Amino acid sequence: MTGPPLGADVISRKAMQEAVSEYDPKDLALACVASHSGLDVYDGATDEGMRNIAVAQEGRHEVYSRYFRKTAGGARGCVDDVWTYPRYDGIMAPDQQKRLRDESAVWVPNRAWTSYCSIDACEDDFAVPMIGSRNLLRSEEREEQQDYYWLLEKAGMPFPRKIDHYDDIDQLAIVKLHHSQKPLERGFFTCASTEEFHEKAQKLIAQGVIDEPALEAARIEEYVVGPVFNFNFFYSPVSKKLGEEPLELLGIDWRFESSLDGHVRIPAPQQMTLPEHQMIPEMTVVGHNTATVRESLLGKVFKLGEQWVEAAAEHYSPGIIGPFCLQTCVDKDMNFFIYDVAPRIGGGTNVHVGMGHPYGNALWREPMSTGRRVAREVRMAAEHDMMTEIVT
Ligand SMILES: Nc1ncnc2c1ncn2[C@@H]1O[C@H](COP(=O)(O)OP(=O)(O)O)[C@@H](O)[C@H]1O
Ligand SMILES: [Mg+2]
Repeated sequence: MTGPPLGADVISRKAMQEAVSEYDPKDLALACVASHSGLDVYDGATDEGMRNIAVAQEGRHEVYSRYFRKTAGGARGCVDDVWTYPRYDGIMAPDQQKRLRDESAVWVPNRAWTSYCSIDACEDDFAVPMIGSRNLLRSEEREEQQDYYWLLEKAGMPFPRKIDHYDDIDQLAIVKLHHSQKPLERGFFTCASTEEFHEKAQKLIAQGVIDEPALEAARIEEYVVGPVFNFNFFYSPVSKKLGEEPLELLGIDWRFESSLDGHVRIPAPQQMTLPEHQMIPEMTVVGHNTATVRESLLGKVFKLGEQWVEAAAEHYSPGIIGPFCLQTCVDKDMNFFIYDVAPRIGGGTNVHVGMGHPYGNALWREPMSTGRRVAREVRMAAEHDMMTEIVT
């Protein structure tokens, strides 16, 4: 728990509102890092008749520049323009920021951007108007003082009980820390006692999966035994101004994780005879699936969305703009616990690409993915002369 309060030197919203005022409202583009949720954004922009720019990295560009490239006339594909750099952070150079502004590009922040480019640079140096709350991006870094747990607590929202010290582990717990060799991945493990904590930690250290410093800083919390639902919400400042309902639930996803999902697909006796190096599952996201919740829970879900929107507005003005994702587990008594919050487009929204989601579609009466909803917000803002409402 170190570092200054969230968003200490963040680029001022006013500067970005001025920048967006220079944009051509009839020829806007959406731009984002071509990973994570990029395809959803490009597909959505295309549906809404908006240009898009994929910011790619050499070696990972072909998905966009070749396989999903829009052909002349637009009969195939959804990606208009691909800007490829040796590394993703090539987009952070001042001349490339200007290039984006010259294109009237609205930036869509995603986790690939804040992971591959430094979060400080995203906040303080990247002078391109973005749809989203720039000062909230840092809240998902669990090491931060005012991280999402802090905000959940302020909001009085339910999250898994924190276990302050490994000596206090008295039930199934999850230990959250970074993987030591795969910097963007997790070295999470579960344990039900202090003894098991030490035993597993030693094994994982020996295997090079985790290291001592990360273990020291790890968050330990109660493991919620129940299914996972990631709620992909959208909060619309434009709808709010127009007197419409601003909070929308667009879709729900859950994740395929390796090697955990392989473990649960083998019988218990086989799990017990796995060799040492395969014994402890990792939880690396490899894909997504779609879900719905039983209808009697939907009211609770909206309430959680409302609480988060309100708390964000109170503590991180201007608060939520556009997409955000509450990641939850539900226990046997139908209680939700929020274990992670993405203050931006979620990683699992690709489940809606091209066809929307039952909830988004039910609301909008046409296929509505998160990417398309982002593009629609920009389009609505442009039409109603409200671009300054949706950028930071
Ligand atoms: N308290 C918890 N109880 C049960 N499962 C959890 C808990 N916290 C996290 N998980 C599981 O671990 C996965 C990753 O957790 P998360 O906190 O979202 O990590 P990341 O920051 O890598 O996204 C989730 O998808 C969920 O399956
Ligand atoms: Mg998560």
